[in-house]
Order: sequence, then C-alpha cells, then structure tokens
Amino acid sequence: MSDATTSIGAAAQNAAPPRVKGRLKAPWQVWRDAGGRVSALRIVALLFLIVPVVVAIYDFYTEGYGARPLNNVIHRTGYWALIFLMVSLAITPLRRIGRFAKLLDVRRMIGVGAFVYAAVHIALYVADQMFDLWKVASEIVLRLYLTIGFVALLGLTALAVTSTDRMVRRLGGQNWQRLHNIAYAIGLLALIHFFQQTKADVALPTFVAALFGWMLGYRLLIRFKKTRGEPPAWKLLALTVAIAALTFIVEAIGISFVFNVSPLRVLGTALDFDDLSMIRPGWLVLGAGLIVVVLDLVRQRFGPRRGGAPATRA
Ligand code: HEM
Repeated sequence: MSDATTSIGAAAQNAAPPRVKGRLKAPWQVWRDAGGRVSALRIVALLFLIVPVVVAIYDFYTEGYGARPLNNVIHRTGYWALIFLMVSLAITPLRRIGRFAKLLDVRRMIGVGAFVYAAVHIALYVADQMFDLWKVASEIVLRLYLTIGFVALLGLTALAVTSTDRMVRRLGGQNWQRLHNIAYAIGLLALIHFFQQTKADVALPTFVAALFGWMLGYRLLIRFKKTRGEPPAWKLLALTVAIAALTFIVEAIGISFVFNVSPLRVLGTALDFDDLSMIRPGWLVLGAGLIVVVLDLVRQRFGPRRGGAPATRA
C-alpha cells in the first residue's frame, strides 16, 4: 500500500462515526477520541489552545493593555492564530520523526483553534473600526497586508468548515487531504501579513518563517524520497544547516537593505552573544532543527521500529 493510501485510510478512520458507550459521540465532545474514549492528548491540546486566553487575562490584571487595548488584543489573537497554524503544520514532521502516531489525532483540533483565533482577530478589527463594514471592506481592498490577511482567513475558514468528521467522510480521504494541503499556502500568506505589519524588529517573524521553511523542506524530503522509510538523520541535519544558513543570509540582506549597511557587517553581528535577547533567528532555527535531529536519533534507538509507526504522507 502506498504512503498516500495509508494516510487517507488514517484520515478516514479518524473520521469514522465516533461512539460513546454505543452511541454517537457529540461533535462538541472534543476531548474524546474517535473511539469515544476520553483522550489525555486531546485534553492537553485543549489546554494548550486556551493558554493565550489565560496569559491575556493575567497580563490585563498585572500590566494592563496600554492606551489601545483593542489593538493589543488584535495583535495577540493574530499572533496566536499564526502560531497555532504553524503548530498544526508541525504535527506531521513531529509525528513522523518522533514516531508519535497519536499526534495526528489533535492536528485538526489545533488547526480549528488557529481559525478561532483568526476569526476573533478579524472580529476585533471590525470592532476597532466602529463596526463600519464599508470602511473595513475598503481597507481590506486598499491595504495589501489586509488583503493578504483576508485571503488567509478565507482559506482558514474553508479548512475549518471541512474539519468536522461528517465533512471528512463526505469529501473522502483523498479530496480532504488535497484540500487541506492549502494550509501551507495559508501559512505563507499569514507570514507575509505578519512581516508587512511588523514595523521594527523582524527577528520573530524571521524565526517563524525559518521554521516554516524547515517544514516545507521536510515536506519535499518525504515527497521525493526514494525509499518508503523516513529520511535519515543526516538529511534532517543537512536541511537544518541549510535553512539556518539561509536565514542568516536573508536576514542580513534584508537588514542591510533597510539600514543601508553592508550585509557582511550584519552577518558579523550574528556572533555577538552578549545580549541573549538579541540572539539571531538563524541560531534559533539551528537549535530547533538540532533538537529534531536528536529526537530522530533517540526514537530510532528507543522508539517503535520504523515499520511500527504508520509511514504516511499526511
Ligand atoms: C481579514 C483578515 C485580517 C485582518 C483585517 C487583519 C488585521 C490585522 C491588523 C489590523 C493587525 C495589526 C496591525 C497594526 O497594528 O499595525 C494584524 C496583525 C497581525 N495579524 Fe492579522 N488580520 C487578518 C487576518 C489574519 C490571519 C488569517 C492571520 C493568521 C493566521 C493573521 C495574523 C496576524 C499577525 C501574526 C499579526 C501580528 C501580531 C503581532 O504583532 O504579534 N491575521 N492583523
């Protein structure tokens, strides 16, 4: 059986009508798995999804939201929509490399979480514009970063409405999988939106973009691999080093362009470790990639055998 077929089988299996003690599981019982059992993994994912709400409430009572509270929450919700979208994309590499087949069970949940934060993000933007829908529409048409955000939101909406068990069954595993591959395009649009509205330090968007680049690279590795197994650790290492090098170079070119300085001078500052808060995104993505390589080596040694974990393309 091909990788793709196995993946579709897994998606369809996941979407089979779930039961709780012989009856259908209610769609809102998201803490139960496809078999209707209470799932610790799902509960952890749910808690993870409400962390930003808890942090926002804590920040409100400790330091307040400043002169423009609504704008503060628009930024928070946009940021978390992007992060959860990236986490949902990271599930596939983590599941495969870490041989954690069960992670697949929370991918849809985290993707829908990204949509919910994005929907609140746009709703707050509409509120910030005093519910003047004509103004909102014209702003979206006239400002490129809002147009891009809007297209990303449309894509997320399409993914969210097709994420119910019933829709997965209706579309069929293969169509569903094909549709949900647009999550990568949505991720790219959301990143551009993030970059465009970031006025000062672009280190954070650069880091998230580098992680996204790593995930795309991994996707290409598994698409074009010649054997059925996972890419070997050395390929993951090579991917990590290549993405980290690219991050240093692109960031140096970007900064040199904006501040009219030599890119080599910018590259030189990458070795400045005096202030750890200023550590360059290239180092961070190198660190994150190395952790994944170590995870691969450890799971190769101690995890389930390669054949044991379902080798899927999803
Ligand atoms: C119609 C759709 C959207 C509108 C109108 C919109 C609007 C905005 C606005 C007004 C800001 C703040 C800009 C500023 O203060 O200068 C912002 C920031 C942001 N938005 Fe959106 N957005 C949309 C969709 C999205 C989507 C779908 C995502 C992610 C999946 C997203 C992610 C972000 C991020 C990451 C930020 C920056 C947050 C930060 O500063 O940390 N936005 N957006």
